Amino acid sequence: MTRPRTRGSRAARALSTRVIARAALAVLTAAWSVLSVAGALAASLEERITVCLACHGAGGVSRVPETPSLSGQPQFFTVAQLFLFRDGRRSSAAMTAAATDLTNEDLRALSDYLAKLPPPEPPTEPADSARAARGRTLASQNHCTVCHNPDFSGREQMPRLANQREDYLLKTMRGYRSGARIGYAGAMAVELHELTDADLDALAHYLSHLPRSSR
Ligand code: HEC
Ligand code: HEC
Repeated sequence: MTRPRTRGSRAARALSTRVIARAALAVLTAAWSVLSVAGALAASLEERITVCLACHGAGGVSRVPETPSLSGQPQFFTVAQLFLFRDGRRSSAAMTAAATDLTNEDLRALSDYLAKLPPPEPPTEPADSARAARGRTLASQNHCTVCHNPDFSGREQMPRLANQREDYLLKTMRGYRSGARIGYAGAMAVELHELTDADLDALAHYLSHLPRSSR
């Protein structure tokens, strides 16, 4: 009678050891999968931002014609534009390809990263004083600072304009005026409706050349 009982309690002990081992393994597996997911997300932000900065420039400061700098842009603005590209509501072959498979988590992480990078510096060549002065007058007459901030640093869904590339500012303002770029709320088409090509040229020159002290 003692042998079977001993065998039985040994078996029970062995069984409970196996159960505990399996439970511990399950906990470790779960913890590992959480850790490896966190690792994968961090790595994929690095991977994703490298692709972005291949076009948008090291540090988010663009050196490619008609491609905007992204550093120092308000996070909300960048997220909103990436939504528009991803949904096909803002058209750009390059950006539709870049944004198609971004998840909401990617949008949040990328825009947060870009917002924290230092904004672009003013260009090294001096501004043409006549065009810059005309641009300043137009910006003040048209109340651009009401939305874009007195120093054009942008806020919330309204972009930083200070020291953005001149060619990009001109291209995108023409796009609003012609209807090629449809913002999510149409505010910019209304703002630029009455302005001539020469006006847009002066505004782009003024905004891209703003001195550092005015930001
Ligand atoms: C192949 C080049 C290329 C790649 C890669 C690329 N972009 Fe772009 N991006 C552009 C161009 C060109 C524009 C301007 C489109 C236009 O004229 O409307 C742009 C516009 C943008 C804008 C709008 C900015 C503004 O001020 O209007 C954002 C935001 C942006 N890109 C973010 C990203 C992010 C984030 C990535 C990486 C996931 C990325 N881009 C990858 C070329 C690229
Ligand atoms: C009523 C608020 C408002 C006013 C006033 C306003 N803007 Fe904007 N602006 C916006 C918003 C919002 C956006 C982003 C819209 C979008 O495309 O989704 C924008 C976008 C822009 C862009 C695109 C920049 C980029 O990086 O993509 C430029 C350039 C611009 N505005 C220039 C101007 C100028 C110049 C004036 C004055 C003539 C002006 N804005 C007045 C709200 C305003």
